Amino acid sequence: MNESPQTAIHIQSLTSLEHFERCVVLQLEVWGYSDGDVIPRRVFVVAQRIGGQVLGAFDGDTIVGFAMSLPGYRDGKPYLHSHMLAVLPQYRNSGIGRRLKLAQRDEAIARGFELMEWTFDPLEIRNSHLNISRLGVIVRRYQADFYGPSSSPLQGGLPTDRLYAEWWLRSGRVTDLLRGEPQPQQILERITVPHTIYQWKQDPQQRSLAQTLQSNNRAALESAFKRGLAVVGYERDAQGNGNFLLGLWK
Ligand SMILES: CC(C)(COP(=O)(O)OP(=O)(O)OC[C@H]1O[C@@H](n2cnc3c(N)ncnc32)[C@H](O)[C@@H]1OP(=O)(O)O)[C@@H](O)C(=O)NCCC(=O)NCCS
Repeated sequence: MNESPQTAIHIQSLTSLEHFERCVVLQLEVWGYSDGDVIPRRVFVVAQRIGGQVLGAFDGDTIVGFAMSLPGYRDGKPYLHSHMLAVLPQYRNSGIGRRLKLAQRDEAIARGFELMEWTFDPLEIRNSHLNISRLGVIVRRYQADFYGPSSSPLQGGLPTDRLYAEWWLRSGRVTDLLRGEPQPQQILERITVPHTIYQWKQDPQQRSLAQTLQSNNRAALESAFKRGLAVVGYERDAQGNGNFLLGLWK
């Protein structure tokens, strides 16, 4: 782990070709993609020029994490789709990912956006915790095999199922949570992701367990969403298992 305290990290917009090139390098380090899956420098240029966001986390002069979003449009309203969030492994778990998201939020609010969305893998306990418990997103949509096959070892050869995070940037839910006063929520159902999922995905002998869990949880989440429930909370237990908490939202 780098010796710098988290406070020494600063976040700023990235604008130069050199910065965007560094994001490509970070992508390779974080996801281990093969060529076909890597987002090239040109897309970062486009994101920055057409009203998206490219933000970097700097340790001194070195970019150690970034967030990238693209402008989207649905039902007559603009929103931001945050496509990538990455922090180098040795800098993780000290709040940099959260700070990048909060910087995205500030910038988006300053330009009048109400909504930021992104997708995340429902089997990733740490991402679910960050997105739902720490940032206050809600989830009402599931997309099976969103990207098709992925070359990233993090995917463990499984279909790229994704949940859509909806981050209602100025909602009471989000602002109260960010103030440290989360709103109470009635929980009607739970769906569990065991902490052993990381091991199951990486070990070819155990991958079928991950596959079965993915399809069972897919069915459970899709069924809950069809019945009008939303993911409104996330809980980790003492063993590190994750639990989606489902309830009514609005
Ligand atoms: C997702 C990612 C950007 C987060 O970056 P980060 O700087 O570690 O994020 P933070 O430190 O702000 O938050 C991580 C949270 O996960 C928690 N966490 C870490 N390991 C965990 C685990 N195994 N299970 C549950 N939670 C875990 C941390 O405790 C922290 O929560 P806390 O703030 O309540 O303590 C980083 O892990 C990453 O680059 N992952 C690979 C790429 C990826 O999955 N990107 C997101 C999808 S595009």
